[in-house]
Amino acid sequence: TMAQSLSKTVVMVGMMGAGKTAIGRALAHALDVPFVDSDAEIEAAAQRTIAEIFERDGEDFFRQRETEVIDRLLSGPPCILSTGGGAFLAPTNRDLIASKGVSVWLDVPLDVLWERVRHKDTRPLLRTENPRATLNALFDARVAHYRRADIQVEYGQGSIAETTTAVQRALF
Ligand code: S3P
Repeated sequence: TMAQSLSKTVVMVGMMGAGKTAIGRALAHALDVPFVDSDAEIEAAAQRTIAEIFERDGEDFFRQRETEVIDRLLSGPPCILSTGGGAFLAPTNRDLIASKGVSVWLDVPLDVLWERVRHKDTRPLLRTENPRATLNALFDARVAHYRRADIQVEYGQGSIAETTTAVQRALF
């Protein structure tokens, strides 16, 4: 089959644990374009982890760096950009993505999200008394924004390969 060529950067959005990095990587591989993770870019530039950045510099600082990374990547050659769960919430980011990229929301049931994030300690927003309740509250507050993505693909039960194929089908 002929290689499909990407005209715009694809921006993976959705909750923590949605699989933005896993599916984004597989999609980048399938389309033979670079994969970039905004959290990893921010960590590399700051020389510390997301948790440390939240702790030492604050969330506002993190959100500013996040917008810069999104803006920079959308101004370059097409790639697959995986963003943090909060990235699609800021109108500035949504506008940038809408004008220069294509957004893909990975729609995942809350129970599945919880199973994927519960054993990790890398997410500062879930360091609360009741992280499950926090995850539910974030989901409730965010889902209306995610639904405005250009493309929506479910990633609850399917494999990485099946989900990646579904994204490709929606893109081309
Ligand atoms: C965040 C999600 C994280 C990271 C930061 C904030 C959020 O990324 O950007 O901890 O606001 O949901 P993942 O979605 O990759 O966990």
